[in-house]
Amino acid sequence: MRNPVPVITVDGPSGVGKGTLCQWLALRLGWHLLDSGALYRLTALAALHRGLALTDEAAVAAVAAALDVAFLPGVDEMRILLDGAEVGAVLRSETTGDAASRVAVLPAVRAALLQRQRDFRRPPGLIADGRDMGTVVFPEAGLKLFLTASAAERAQRRYKQLIEKGMDANLAGLAEEIAARDARDAQRTVAPLRPAADAELLDTTGMPIARVCDWALTLAARRLSIPVIP
Ligand code: C5P
Repeated sequence: MRNPVPVITVDGPSGVGKGTLCQWLALRLGWHLLDSGALYRLTALAALHRGLALTDEAAVAAVAAALDVAFLPGVDEMRILLDGAEVGAVLRSETTGDAASRVAVLPAVRAALLQRQRDFRRPPGLIADGRDMGTVVFPEAGLKLFLTASAAERAQRRYKQLIEKGMDANLAGLAEEIAARDARDAQRTVAPLRPAADAELLDTTGMPIARVCDWALTLAARRLSIPVIP
């Protein structure tokens, strides 16, 4: 049966502003939010906590299938608990992002996380943030957005984000890490990073986030017939 709960998918490479746009859209529309990258990050962290090699596909997939996580509303952003303990800043670090992109190449891990991601689809609607939201997880979504931005600008944005969170960051190192992660995400055989054929593309280089949000909201209003006050 067709799922009547509307979905907006937002895909694109690291540091492109998907997170900011998705949080804004979810708040603006009063919809649920799926941060699928967090699930890959949590899987990698849980595997590392258990002393597993990130290449051990069967073992990491078992960890993904049994992931004990809770997403709780926080003051500024979501609080995330893994095995009952708050993961906080370590989850957002580039080291964890890198580990996430290593487990994300494993087909059994992606399969183990598929239903968990689809379960986020609850009324009144879902904003899904990731790499394969429009191509694999919600191929029937009513609106699919795909953001891009120059590599230099994405490294800058990620740098600013990490510094604002009080984390250590080095711009040159970050640019290299982002490039390596993008290459791994785009070249993997399962669910590689690419826009769905019916996705709306936007190059956000040099664009203030408010304009990106306006663009997305205008499309949402038009495509999904959502009554939105401008
Ligand atoms: O978006 P975020 O930086 O949190 O994602 C971390 C990593 O998780 C990505 O680099 C990618 O390898 C993986 N990922 C994925 N599919 C998604 C979301 C994230 O493969 N839908």
